Order: sequence, then C-alpha cells, then structure tokens
Amino acid sequence: MAGRIPQDFIDDLLNRTDIADVVEERITLKRTGRNYSGLCPFHQEKTPSFSVNPEKQFYYCFGCGAGGNAIGFVMEYDRIDFPQAVETLARRVGIDVPQEAGAPQKNQKLQNSYQILDCTARFYQHQLKKHPEKQKAINYLKQRGLSGEIAQRFQIGYAPPGWDNLINHLQQLPELKDKASQKELDDAGLVILKEQENRCYDRFRDRIIFPIVDMRGRVIAFGGRVLTDEKPKYLNSPETDTFHKNRELYGLYQARQINRNLEKVVIVEGYMDVVALAQFDISNAVATLGTATSEHHLTRLFKVVNEVVFCFDGDNAGRKAASRALETALALMEDGRQARFLFLPEGEDPDTLVRQEGSDAFKQRIDTAKPLSEFFFDSLSESLDIESQEGRARLSAIAMPLIEKIPGQVFQQLMKQQMSEMAGITSDFLQQITPAPEPAPSYESASPEYEPSAIGDDYWQQPSAPSRQAERYRPRQALKPSSLGTRAIRWLLHNPKLALKVDFETTEALSALLDPELSMLRALVEQLRPNPTLPTALILMEWQEDPNFELLCQLTEQELLIADISHMETEFIDCLHQLVRKTEEAKLDYLKKKNLSSLTDEEKRLLKKLLLRT
Ligand code: UTP
Ligand code: MN
Repeated sequence: MAGRIPQDFIDDLLNRTDIADVVEERITLKRTGRNYSGLCPFHQEKTPSFSVNPEKQFYYCFGCGAGGNAIGFVMEYDRIDFPQAVETLARRVGIDVPQEAGAPQKNQKLQNSYQILDCTARFYQHQLKKHPEKQKAINYLKQRGLSGEIAQRFQIGYAPPGWDNLINHLQQLPELKDKASQKELDDAGLVILKEQENRCYDRFRDRIIFPIVDMRGRVIAFGGRVLTDEKPKYLNSPETDTFHKNRELYGLYQARQINRNLEKVVIVEGYMDVVALAQFDISNAVATLGTATSEHHLTRLFKVVNEVVFCFDGDNAGRKAASRALETALALMEDGRQARFLFLPEGEDPDTLVRQEGSDAFKQRIDTAKPLSEFFFDSLSESLDIESQEGRARLSAIAMPLIEKIPGQVFQQLMKQQMSEMAGITSDFLQQITPAPEPAPSYESASPEYEPSAIGDDYWQQPSAPSRQAERYRPRQALKPSSLGTRAIRWLLHNPKLALKVDFETTEALSALLDPELSMLRALVEQLRPNPTLPTALILMEWQEDPNFELLCQLTEQELLIADISHMETEFIDCLHQLVRKTEEAKLDYLKKKNLSSLTDEEKRLLKKLLLRT
C-alpha cells in the first residue's frame, strides 16, 4: 500500500485544477450563466440536469443527486479509486504525488512486479493473435462458445508451448531493462525457479490464460487452463506480494466496469463460469480462485454491493461449500445486506447451464435464489426431526449461537423470531435459555418504553429543545461502529443539513421503532432540523452525558471518503429508508404475534398502518 497522500497536497492540487476543465475533458458542457450544464454521465437522461459550478468547484446532478469535487468526479467517471484519481489530476497539471516515507523499497519492488505482470498479460494476448499455433487456442475458445468481445474484455490470452517464450520476451523489452531478472520474474510468480541449477522456465505453457486483475484493473496474477483433458486442468499463479488468493475475486473489476450501479454479485466457482455468464449478458459474476469464499472476499464485496448470491453445484460438495459460506456470511450480515443461495441441478455448472437454458432462465434462478434465512433453517433442520420436541430443542441449541453472530440487529431479531416460531416457544423464553454474550433488544421487553405518542402531528411546528430530545432518547446498548445506522449518524454529524432532507414519515418511523441506533438518529435529526448549521462542537455538547458520546466524537473525527460525499444525500436517505423498512418488518411481525386485546391503542394504530401498507 502506498502511504497516505498529505492533505496539503490535495488542497494544492484542487487549487490548481479547474473542475469545469476536468469535466469538459470527459463530457460536453454548455455555459449557462455562471455555471455549466450538460447531460449527466451518471444516469440516463434526455434533458440536462447535470451542472458544474466553477465558483464552488463543485458538480451536482439535480436528476440523480450525484455531486462532489474534481477528485470525486474523476473517481466516479473513470471508475478509479481515490489515489488513482489524485494521480490522474496531478499528471494533468504536471506535478508529482508525494510518496509518504515508509517502505519505498518495497513499493518500488511492487511497482516493478506490476509492470512485469502487465507486459506479460499483453504478451499472452498477443500470442493469441500472432503465434503460429494460435489456431488451436482460438478453436478451443470458440468451441467453448466465447466471442472475441468477451475474450477482449477479460484480456484472455494464450501461453504458447515451450519453456522460455515469456522469459525471452520480457528480458528483451527495453522498458524492463535490468528489471526482469530470474528473481524478479519469480517474485511475480511467472516462472519456476531451479535455484540449485540457477535456471528457470516459464510457469505457464500451452495454456489458455486468464489474467487476474485487482479492483483497479492492475494485472496481479494468472490462471491457465489446458486445452485438453490433461491434469492439472488449471494452474494458478502462486501467492506473491501482488496476489493473495483468499482476497481476490476473478471478474470483480470487469463487473464494476460494465455496471455503473452494481447492486449484486453472483459468486461462482470457476473462471469459465464468470466468462460464460458475461457472454450471456450476466456480467455481475465473480469467482473465488480455487478457494472457499473467505471473510476477506465477502468484506470486499459488501463494500461495493449490498447483495451477494452464492452459486453452488447441486451435489454434496456444493452443499458442503454452501454451509461453509453460510457461516462466513453470518458474521457479516449487517442490516441492509443480503445473501442468497443458488443451487444448480446436479452435474451442471453456470457455464453449462446458461448455455443450455439461456440467459433469462438463468437470471430467473438468480432472482429467486434462497434467502440466507431460508437456507439457514433448511440446512440446520435437515438432519433433525423437527416434528419432535427433542429435535426442535436441538435445532435451537445449534441455531442460537449462530444467530448471535449476526451483527445486524434487525436481521438478528427476525431470525430469532423465526427460530422461536419453529421451536414453538416464545422468543423471550428462547432468549432466556440462550447464553447471549451481548443481548440484543427484544421488542417484547422493550415495549413498555415504546412511546410513539411522544411525537404528535404538530411535530414539525414545534421544534423541541435538544435537551428534551436527548432525554427522551434512552440508549439501551452500545452502538455498533460499522452498522448502517452508525453510518447514517456519521453522515449527519458531518453534514447537519441532511437533517432537512429527512421527511416526516421517516422521522416518525424512526421514532416508532425501538432501536438504539434509530432512536439516536431520530434524536439527532430532531436536534439538527431547527439548527442545520449548528457547529459540530455544539452538536456534541448536547450528548456529553450520553453513553455513546465517545463514539459520536470518533464518528465526527473520521474523515469521509470523497466517494461518500458525492453520494451523501441519496445514500443517506436510502440508508434511512432501508433501516426503517427492515425495522418495520420486524415490528409488524411482533405486533401480529401479540394478542390483540393486549395492544395499546397506539400499537393498534401502528399495526393497522403497517398491515395496510403490505
Ligand atoms: P472446475 O473444475 O469447476 O472448473 O474448477 P471449471 O471452471 O468448470 O472449468 P472448465 O469449465 O472445465 O474449464 C473451478 C475452479 O477451481 C480452480 C479454478 O479456479 C477453477 O476455475 N481449479 C480447478 C484449479 O485451480 N485447479 C484445477 O486443477 C481445477
Ligand atoms: Mn466448467
């Protein structure tokens, strides 16, 4: 990793950069008064709602809400990350991005590997066009049904037969002069080194080559497939400084390039599955590289999408892999995230199946894949007799510790409710018999404090004093620093004006749903709505007595990524809606289960409201 880029430098860079120029280098703009306008590159539109304000050095789209500074624009438009965007803009104005002191040597070595790997990928691609034996590789790809366009998108190449084609090629490249010794090629994972004999030879020979690229599109490794039935079928680069198998996902870069608003990804097993699906217009598939899906993989994926669909073979091995994936996924199920499980008919993989039944049928399978909750209970009850008391007791004994791993409070609560239904006992009782490390709030026990009547219809007319809000809000447990709710709180603290964007319905919903994060969000919204320009220090003053004060301070100090800022408003609102929806579902479930006569009038009203909505 390169070090942090100093803030001074970024400020200086932005000073030297005119956002209007940067945008105009990419899309057509028209001058309209003091601003520029044009068709928004971030959503489909026929009339321009995209504008650039040179005074504020800001862009904003009134259609889709995209907005930000020059760095944010380049990140979004060029689909690159922050350091790359800084690099791009710096190059434009002819200045160098300062390298933080640290491990310059290691950095140099890495850069060298990247360069070698890049040259290698190009060499293999070139061989597919020029090598005397190219035809057999081309025939193989054709026979597997790949178009030239898809081969190009995935930079597919051919490693020709022979022991030293690559070595010789790289060593005569002028740009790699003195940089492609045996040691360096070995560091890049490209050769097999026989140290005693002081010689080496090409690792990939006579194979179809699938370059593996990282999130920025840099080549970091290769997978190579034989053209016949020989073994091993696939050969992969070894672990190197650039390539960590249990973090990387084949196809993720391409999926992000093709889909501007990637919402879900399908995780499959093989290179050919990713490529074949893409050929059939299902361009959001990624593959792990011969390993099980790890926590690293999922963490990475959930940074870019909210939904993952695991795809498995229908055989025993597939079921086993699914159970492992399930356990890995549980610990990452923040509220707002979704995981589904798709099982293919026995003997098929995505590649064979999509060719057989076509893209619509396969998409249908993806869309109707089993939700995690369903697969969870199905797979746990499979080996138990849940008709019997003992079986159900056993089920809850196995399930509860797993459910406790779920970080999303709402989702966890829903799972507990489902569990209690299956076990035929109340969730209270279930909670009692489960040794819980950190008890989640249960609606049962929380209901005495639940007072939606605290906010009446005249709510907006009477902005109440912050201290009263803080009083009404009673945290029941510590907030989780990475949850959706905390993210929303952080946005709000950084930009109090967002409070003005929260509509009445949402605020009302936030207040009705007893949940520490939502209550805090509601209290903050209420505090900030009448004072959207309140300085952060004053906002925090009101919270000094709160058990979550420390966390609030930390959230205030955390820097927001530029990417956050440019989408902040839409993301913030989306995030609130998601939170509310999930919590409402849980509330509805709870109310439905209660005896009608035990409901307060307020609860009856809410139940009716929620029921009418669904
Ligand atoms: P599969 O054997 O299911 O591969 O292995 P596949 O993609 O269906 O291969 P085709 O269709 O015959 O070309 C799934 C994945 O496991 C890894 C590779 O990453 C492969 O894509 N694998 C498999 C290896 O690393 N080495 C092997 O020998 C086989
Ligand atoms: Mn296959």
